[in-house]
Parts: sequence; structure tokens; C-alpha cells
Amino acid sequence: MFARVMMLVAGLAMGMTTMAEEATPGTAYVPTVMVTGANRGIGLEFVRQYAERGARVIATARDPAGAQELNALAAANPRIIVERLDVTDFAQVDALAARYADQPIDVLINNAGISGGMQKQMYGRMDYAVFEEVLRVNTIAPLKVTEAFTPSVLASQQKRIVAISSSEGSVSMVDSSRLPFMRASKAALNMEMRNVAFQLKPKGASVRILNPGLVDTDFMKGLPKRMLRPTATVVGELIPLIDAMSVENTGSFLGYDGKELPW
Ligand SMILES: NC(=O)c1ccc[n+]([C@@H]2O[C@H](COP(=O)([O-])OP(=O)(O)OC[C@H]3O[C@@H](n4cnc5c(N)ncnc54)[C@H](OP(=O)(O)O)[C@@H]3O)[C@@H](O)[C@H]2O)c1
Repeated sequence: MFARVMMLVAGLAMGMTTMAEEATPGTAYVPTVMVTGANRGIGLEFVRQYAERGARVIATARDPAGAQELNALAAANPRIIVERLDVTDFAQVDALAARYADQPIDVLINNAGISGGMQKQMYGRMDYAVFEEVLRVNTIAPLKVTEAFTPSVLASQQKRIVAISSSEGSVSMVDSSRLPFMRASKAALNMEMRNVAFQLKPKGASVRILNPGLVDTDFMKGLPKRMLRPTATVVGELIPLIDAMSVENTGSFLGYDGKELPW
């Protein structure tokens, strides 16, 4: 009984348990969230905060054995499931999606991403192999992961797909020449996710593209700490924006402050 009450409380905290579900004995609803790149940075913090809210979390990492912090979280919370996933490995993506095919995933968070490093994308000495890798991780993989897990998302109650993008992917906000690979990869991510939004809108799913701002993770190594915001603060701001997703607002590109960003 206590466990059922706790699950209902968890569902209510996620803002999605309907009165009908609460009234139906034995059908307590625990939402499932899947996060890519969950072993560190923003992804790890999503796992921590969603687990604290009572969600079941499928936390994917390309090297689970080396994911000490994530494994410690999972050891303390049986609702966190750690899965191996290199998002650029389509065979792995398909195999994992097939394993979860009969399970609903309420929120799919495409978080894994790379910058490619400043030095490799300097005009005049660009390393195009790095550009290909940045596109594979930041652009192609999120579309593939989303496509592969769409049946699980559509089988869920919330049907939400999130892409962690960047204001660097806003073409009209660009006013300097830094990080062209990363910027191009995120601009393309934004476009493809807007496409997915319209693809899945008739099926009741929603898509949101989020900019976390400058966050204190390995991604921003080298920038002065005072310019960066803590992951806990940022993820604490992003989760309500995910809670607010609906088919009416699908396809939007928002900053962590909830303000719409220009394309
Ligand atoms: N930090 C910021 O200020 C900032 C700003 C704008 C946007 N973002 C976006 O936020 C997202 C998360 O970044 P972060 O700041 O948390 O960076 P991070 O600390 O560098 O973490 C990146 C995550 O992506 C994973 N990853 C990279 N390649 C992967 C692959 N092929 N398959 C699976 N996972 C892979 C990494 O796993 P490994 O440990 O195995 O490498 C790691 O878990 C990214 O999409 C990034 O573009 C961040």
C-alpha cells in the first residue's frame, strides 16, 4: 500500500497522473524518462533530478563500466537502469530500441553531444574528419535515436521528445566565427527536430528543442567558471519546460529561461 501511495505521489510530482489512473486500482503510473549521454554533465543531472522526482530513468552511456557516478546513483535507486549506448552506433541503437519496444518511454532526452574542440575548427586549418564526427553525434544520432524509440514514446502517456541544442545553433543569433562545426550541427539538429515535431504531432507527441546556456560541464572546459552556471540549476530550469510540453507548443526552440529563441 505504502509503495503504491509513493508511486502515485511520484506520478503527481511529474504532473501527469490523471484522476482516472489514480482511481483504477493496481494501475499506478510511474513515468519513464530516457537520457542519452547520462554518465556526466547535463545528462547525469537529468538522471539525478528525474530519479529524485520518482521517475523510472533509462540512463544510457557509451561506457557504463566507467560511469562511476551514474552507477552509484543507480545502486542507490532501483528505478535507474543503466544501458550501454553509443548514439552513433546504429546497431546498438536498434538493439536497445527493440529491447524496449514493448515499454512506454514518456520523455526521451537527446542529450549526448560534443563540441569538436575549438582548435580543429579554425578557418584555414579545419579538420573535416572532426566535422563528420560532430555531425554524427550532434545531428544524425539524435534523429536516429528518436526514430528508433518513437514506438516506445508513442506508447507512453506523455509522448515527449527533447533535444538538448544550443543558442549556437541559432543562425540569426550568430555574430562571430567560432565553433562552425558545432554551430552547424546544432542548427541542423534544430531543423530536423522541428520536422519530427510536425511528423509526430498528429500522433499526439510533442518535441521541444532546449538551449541550456553556458553550463559548468566538461563541454565548456577552459571557459572561466564565473561564466558558467551549475548543472543542477540549469536542469532544474529545463525540467519544468519539459513538463509544459504539449502538441499545441510542439516544435519550439527555448532557452533555459523559457523564452523562445530565434532560428
Ligand atoms: N555545457 C554547456 O555549456 C552546453 C551549452 C550548450 C549546449 N550544450 C549541450 O548539452 C548537451 C550535454 O552537454 P554537457 O555540457 O553535459 O557535456 P559533457 O559534460 O561533455 O557531456 C557530454 C555527454 O555526451 C556523451 N557522448 C558524447 N559522444 C557520445 C556518443 N557517441 N554516444 C553516446 N554518448 C556520447 C558523453 O559521453 P562520454 O563520457 O562517453 O564521452 C557525455 O556523457 C550536449 O548536447 C551539448 O551540446 C551544453
